[in-house]
Amino acid sequence: MTPPFLEPGRIGPVALPNRLVRAPTSETMATEDGEVTPDLRRLYGELARGGAGLLLTGHIFVRPDGQCSPRQMALHDDRFVPGLARLVREVHAGGARIFAELSHAGSQTMMPGLTPLAPSGVSSAIYPGQPRGMTGQDIAEVIAAFGAAAARARAAGFDGIHIHGGNGYLAAQFASPASNRRDDDWGGDAAGRSRFLLAVLAAVRDGAGPGLAVTARYGVMDSAPGGLSLEEGLARLEALADAGLDAVEPTYNLMRSYRENIRPYVAVGATRALRDWVAPRLWRPAAPQAYYRPLARAIKARMDLPVILVGGVRGTDVMEEVLRSGDADFLSMARPLVREPDLPKQLAGGRRGVVDCVSCNICLAHDGHDALKCWRRNPVDLLRHAAWRLARR
Ligand SMILES: Cc1cc2nc3c(=O)[nH]c(=O)nc-3n(C[C@H](O)[C@H](O)[C@H](O)COP(=O)(O)O)c2cc1C
Ligand code: SF4
Repeated sequence: MTPPFLEPGRIGPVALPNRLVRAPTSETMATEDGEVTPDLRRLYGELARGGAGLLLTGHIFVRPDGQCSPRQMALHDDRFVPGLARLVREVHAGGARIFAELSHAGSQTMMPGLTPLAPSGVSSAIYPGQPRGMTGQDIAEVIAAFGAAAARARAAGFDGIHIHGGNGYLAAQFASPASNRRDDDWGGDAAGRSRFLLAVLAAVRDGAGPGLAVTARYGVMDSAPGGLSLEEGLARLEALADAGLDAVEPTYNLMRSYRENIRPYVAVGATRALRDWVAPRLWRPAAPQAYYRPLARAIKARMDLPVILVGGVRGTDVMEEVLRSGDADFLSMARPLVREPDLPKQLAGGRRGVVDCVSCNICLAHDGHDALKCWRRNPVDLLRHAAWRLARR
């Protein structure tokens, strides 16, 4: 019997060959300016041939003041379209579909010399830097930038747009009472806190035009009490679904630490542990698999919206069970496909059990500093990582 993750699916107007999705994973592989490089094309070609039905890009910034980290892909100008079009062609030739994750980092930027924007002058719990509260004109310009970037993504041949509306980035900052202290139309109450994301969705829909899917990574609730509540997050998501969102990838909204989104999960046998040179990290307590499943279940109980489940999707038993239970419709993986870009193809070939990635988060530590790769593939990389950590102390 075909396992459910290999069955075809559909998101809005886009037909997909299976239910396996490459989660957005920033690559640190663009030029300093944000242009696509041959390395990026190679990576996306490899992922497409690796069998995931849908690739979500790493976050692409829609305005220079929304850049999160160095060597991130950009789409704030027409000059980025030809490079992205070549990347998309590479993906389509490999048999996958691809959505562009469009983002503005807001206060979550690590770009030196950039004064971060935010709904109010509230610093991020994770990133340094004092943001400047946005004016009405700033807000209108950022929303327009999302729309213009969506139109460029369409011109580049993307199959859809994935709006970054979670994990503490600008849209999430507007959604939470902990970071949005405004008392104008863009804050003040739940309706005001919804306005930015609804306006971004409308602008993106407009820019993308018919034929493209529009989905979102979406922060359903803050990880800390006193911020965005589950109830408010679900009501906002219903409004987004009514406004034409085609699918949601649920996560936390604001977080106290990025590790709340990228949890360590460890399940390895002795052979695997030996192969990875038995690092102390392997004995960290294990987080459960599929750790955003409660959010997915809460969404499914409330509305009829396709759910892409991300976060700790690690073993075929759990993958099958999640899809069969109806808690999610698609399974999204970031770190497992950093380690094994051809994992979906292996699963199609009958491989079962737990993925090779041990969720040590070393690749995450290098985000914005070094090209995306699994640092556990060979001992030289692990030594390089140790030296890098020491030098940064
Ligand atoms: C190196 C790295 C880069 C990431 N970049 C992004 C990103 O650009 N956009 C995004 O929405 N999430 C990003 N994430 C978060 C992942 O999409 C995902 O939510 C998280 O890693 C948990 O899923 P996993 O257990 O499959 O890795 C990144 C994660 C890692 C490890
Ligand atoms: S460095 Fe490798 S093993 Fe560690 S989280 Fe990243 S992909 Fe997984």
